[in-house]
Amino acid sequence: MKAAIYREYGSADGVRIEDVPTPEPGPGEVRIRMRAASLNPADIYMLRGWPYMLRLQSGLRRPKNNGIGLDFAGEVERVGEGVTHLRPGDAVHGEMTTPFSGRTRTIAEYLCLPATQAAKMPPGLSFEEAAALPVAGCTAMFAVRNFGGLRPGQQVLINGAGGGIGVHAVQLAKHAGAIVTGVCSGEKASMVRELGADRTIDYRREDFTAEDIRYDVMIDLASSRSPKECRRVLAPDGRFVWVGSVESSPFFGPLRPLLRVALTSQVARGQRWDTVTNTTTSADLGTLVGLLAEGALRPVIGRRYPLAEVADAIRYMETGHAGGKIVIAI
Ligand SMILES: NC(=O)c1ccc[n+]([C@@H]2O[C@H](COP(=O)([O-])OP(=O)(O)OC[C@H]3O[C@@H](n4cnc5c(N)ncnc54)[C@H](OP(=O)(O)O)[C@@H]3O)[C@@H](O)[C@H]2O)c1
Repeated sequence: MKAAIYREYGSADGVRIEDVPTPEPGPGEVRIRMRAASLNPADIYMLRGWPYMLRLQSGLRRPKNNGIGLDFAGEVERVGEGVTHLRPGDAVHGEMTTPFSGRTRTIAEYLCLPATQAAKMPPGLSFEEAAALPVAGCTAMFAVRNFGGLRPGQQVLINGAGGGIGVHAVQLAKHAGAIVTGVCSGEKASMVRELGADRTIDYRREDFTAEDIRYDVMIDLASSRSPKECRRVLAPDGRFVWVGSVESSPFFGPLRPLLRVALTSQVARGQRWDTVTNTTTSADLGTLVGLLAEGALRPVIGRRYPLAEVADAIRYMETGHAGGKIVIAI
């Protein structure tokens, strides 16, 4: 089968489409004929081997697992022993939550993984839309609903509103009845408003931490302002929900801003400061798909690439300025 493969840690330039053995499903696994995958910043971290301590798991000098991709959508082609809830022909999607299992990852013609990681796709969703949802949609759902706990009329700020998670978070916050401010570059403002933001702030021209407003909830996907600055515009009983960072380095990856938030959580009396760790399960995907059926959410595909152009797709993600989700059609 053809798969996106990298043999050395590095950048998109080292990613090739190679012929590799088609995987066989073991007990409890399914083999999926892949139709679409989507990219996430985590794919870039694994490709770079950042932070370096990740290499204890992924391979010290070279990556032990050479595939790319976590999000998937496709059709079950074969089921392993003991799999009863899925059958050949079922359309499924999900997140590969065992990226270091030794299995080729999701940007490939076939994918083998534990059947528990695959959820049946709802009717009416294309494979590309289904592949766009798992990591970004579930992370947005955890941030907005579980940690943000948004109530109607509350003021929420979403920093990084135009990216993969942001486009879901804006919609979910609006659905919860909140007054939504999206921070994004000027080019993404109309998309973010169309998704439900009441107001957008172009971070290249304005500093949201210099305003007089107090937000009930802040969802931070960019870590572009320090906790001290953010505290100033967070209500005294507000909730700060940290998800990710545009800052990344070989030694720390995105861990420095995470540590700053963890420290702030110890001193910010009255306010709640939390960090989100995405652990998508099929049940979470089911909840997300329910929100889709309610009309609370729709997938937002910013760019589509064919399998042969996966390196270009990764280059676009590497810019740190992706709009919506980047999908690979397989
Ligand atoms: N905690 C978890 O469990 C978890 C799970 C998944 C992802 N993450 C992390 O969450 C973060 C966001 O993920 P994603 O999938 O949304 O990434 P993405 O699709 O790459 O989007 C990132 C967005 O950040 C915006 N941005 C860049 N610089 C900014 C700045 N200074 N201020 C505000 N926005 C800025 C970019 O757009 P414009 O600059 O063009 O507006 C882009 O739309 C990443 O760091 C990722 O690693 C965390």
